[in-house]
Amino acid sequence: MLVLGIETSCDETAVGIVEDRFTVRANVVASQVDLHAPYGGVVPEVAARAHLELLQPMIDRALVEAGCNLSDMDAVAVTTGPGLAGALLVGVAGAKALALAADLPLLAVNHLRAHVEAAQLEFGELEPPVLALVVSGGHSSLVVMEADGVFRELGATIDDAAGEAFDKIARFLGLTYPGGPEIDRLARDGDPAAFAFPRALLHDGTYNFSLSGLKTAVVRELRRLEAAGIEPVLADVAASFQEAIVDVQVTKTLRAAADESIGKLVLAGGVAANSRLRGWMADACEEAGVRLLAPSIPLCTDNGAMVAASGSNRLAAGATDELGAAVDPALRLAS
Ligand code: KG4
Ligand code: ZN
Repeated sequence: MLVLGIETSCDETAVGIVEDRFTVRANVVASQVDLHAPYGGVVPEVAARAHLELLQPMIDRALVEAGCNLSDMDAVAVTTGPGLAGALLVGVAGAKALALAADLPLLAVNHLRAHVEAAQLEFGELEPPVLALVVSGGHSSLVVMEADGVFRELGATIDDAAGEAFDKIARFLGLTYPGGPEIDRLARDGDPAAFAFPRALLHDGTYNFSLSGLKTAVVRELRRLEAAGIEPVLADVAASFQEAIVDVQVTKTLRAAADESIGKLVLAGGVAANSRLRGWMADACEEAGVRLLAPSIPLCTDNGAMVAASGSNRLAAGATDELGAAVDPALRLAS
């Protein structure tokens, strides 16, 4: 079974081909980072137009990489949400055209579930129940995959997503977009204990996250230092900020694993590429006897193979969608 997956929900035009649910045959990504960097963030209109130009060449490249033709595919999967409406529309229109032209079934894919299901491409069948921390540019949530394709949300951010906080603070520090990888790099030379930034909701008894207070605390501290004529060590700020985010993510995730008696954790989404989060989570999981499934970085950040994997699961379960399938920019993980 070969499924081609298309991802255009944000600023990556990506196409993947997955064979029999678990094997990546192709995974090509055209990043638009350079296009958006001058604006310090993703410009929806620019993203949509770039997807339009890049989609067909990326489909061609994926087919060449996999050594197959469109007629070899069994279905076309595409992210229908969540994401930027105009960006999603380009991928969905492209997928529908392919499905119609090659007489293939269409599979609508939830981007957030696909981030979780990407783990099956490296670790095989996920075998529920599995706990998943999904941390990306637009979302932070803690979910349980209770059965194949059945998700229950334990908690989510009540304000900023983890990646959003990384990007905003990076911008404030004068780093380039996207800021997450920049902070990760800078923090390696910094002291994570230099600043005692707040850990919001750490002991509130929920699995929710809140990052806006941390963001404000960083901004206020830098303004205070500036007013006092003290030049802050940016590496220390980055390391302390990162430490505060990661502390809450790791603590709450491990608490959820214990409360729900789940012994497997998928770390998913672009922020799962963060080296401190991966390292700390690995140590905490080992101590707690939880098996950590953290896919390699190209499968954590947005990619087409995760969409193909998620679509393959739906196809294997007998599901397909109508050619009229709509985009849903606000689609939730557990909908
Ligand atoms: O999942 P993703 O590729 O796109 C969305 O679905 O949003 O996530 C992108 C986010 C961005 O906010 C980016 O700054 C963040 O993931 N990110 C990181 C790292 N690599 C990417 N954040 C922290 N550390 C990283 N190494
Ligand atoms: Zn994503």
